[in-house]
Amino acid sequence: MNYNKKTIEDIDVTGKKILMRVDFNVPRDKATGAITDDRRIAETVPTIRYLLDRNAALILCSHMGRPKGQRKEELSLLPVAARLSKLLGAGHEVTFCSDIVGEEAKAKAAALKPGDVMLLENIRFLPGEEANDPELARELASMAELYVNDAFGTAHRAHASTAGVAKYLPAVSGLLLARELKALGGVLTNPAHPFVVILGGAKVSDKLGVINNLLDKADTLLIGGGMAYTFLRAAGFGIGSSLCEEDRLEYAGEMMKKAASLGKRILLPIDHICAESLEEGASPVTIPGETIPEGLMGLDIGPKTGELFTKCIAEAKTVLWNGPMGVFEKTAFSAGTWDVARAMADNGGVTVVGGGDTAAAAERFGYAARMSHVSTGGGASLELLEGLELPGVACLQDKE
Ligand code: 3PG
Repeated sequence: MNYNKKTIEDIDVTGKKILMRVDFNVPRDKATGAITDDRRIAETVPTIRYLLDRNAALILCSHMGRPKGQRKEELSLLPVAARLSKLLGAGHEVTFCSDIVGEEAKAKAAALKPGDVMLLENIRFLPGEEANDPELARELASMAELYVNDAFGTAHRAHASTAGVAKYLPAVSGLLLARELKALGGVLTNPAHPFVVILGGAKVSDKLGVINNLLDKADTLLIGGGMAYTFLRAAGFGIGSSLCEEDRLEYAGEMMKKAASLGKRILLPIDHICAESLEEGASPVTIPGETIPEGLMGLDIGPKTGELFTKCIAEAKTVLWNGPMGVFEKTAFSAGTWDVARAMADNGGVTVVGGGDTAAAAERFGYAARMSHVSTGGGASLELLEGLELPGVACLQDKE
């Protein structure tokens, strides 16, 4: 995939009316609807400011959740407009348009003046969005003279507002999307070696393509989290009642063979923090060695593994991390994830953190600001690391 796309800095945006796709799909409190993490909103502020400073008028478009083509009030973007106004500060009131591409939205878009910002209601309230309906894409495009995609988190979706619209307007990248492509694309195309990749999270099946693609590029893969137990089983160790994907044992075995044949290392946990269950009150025990006894399940990498992984990370010039090392939301099983985050923060080289849970862990432990890059994309960063083409990127103009 070509990661070198034209950005808003490569073209004249002065005074333009711009349709900008953002990913404001932010976590919200189930009971109150309050936004619990606004990082995705805050990360688009530099792009918005850059455009407003040049007298552009902005029509922002995003999805929230998966309403499947129906209006659902609990998935309205209204609270996001208020949060964005606050983040932009005095003088930049963000107006909200509950219509999306109807007469009202078009009239409001036409009336926007330089420096104005309007946020459209959740685009996934319209069935044409996920169907990538060309008519919806054309309607969206008709409100503006330029399309800017800054929604890295949704760039893996070929939807009307993420890809379709680029057929009807000149299309370039925003500053956030450009930063994401530079950081994640950079580790894939030109990493400084040693290049260490840390993979975790619950399932091997979520990361099949990622493991395969990164084995070709990295020198060492450190595997922790739920997925490590399938690898340990495939390597012949007992794993007690830990998570195991029977149908991925063969794949895990193949990946270990591939690593050996390429002269790469896959390091698995050499000790564990276990419990009888994840129930409240189940007491954590440290199990030395790879084998987990019957009746116990692995819920975090152990302290020796933490030391081993820390040493590998310290020796690396490029580090990429995707997936927690254990059930980090519970203090008793968070030390391994903490070790990895700290080692990366101390590294001083290129350190890139995938989005979703991994970004949340880095943030929660207070290390996010010390990483070279923390992605805003969960699924999107995985697909990019898998080497897949992202439709929301492929549709943008290439740099000359
Ligand atoms: C995400 O949160 O990963 C993006 O906003 C994409 O959401 P989706 O998986 O519902 O397409």
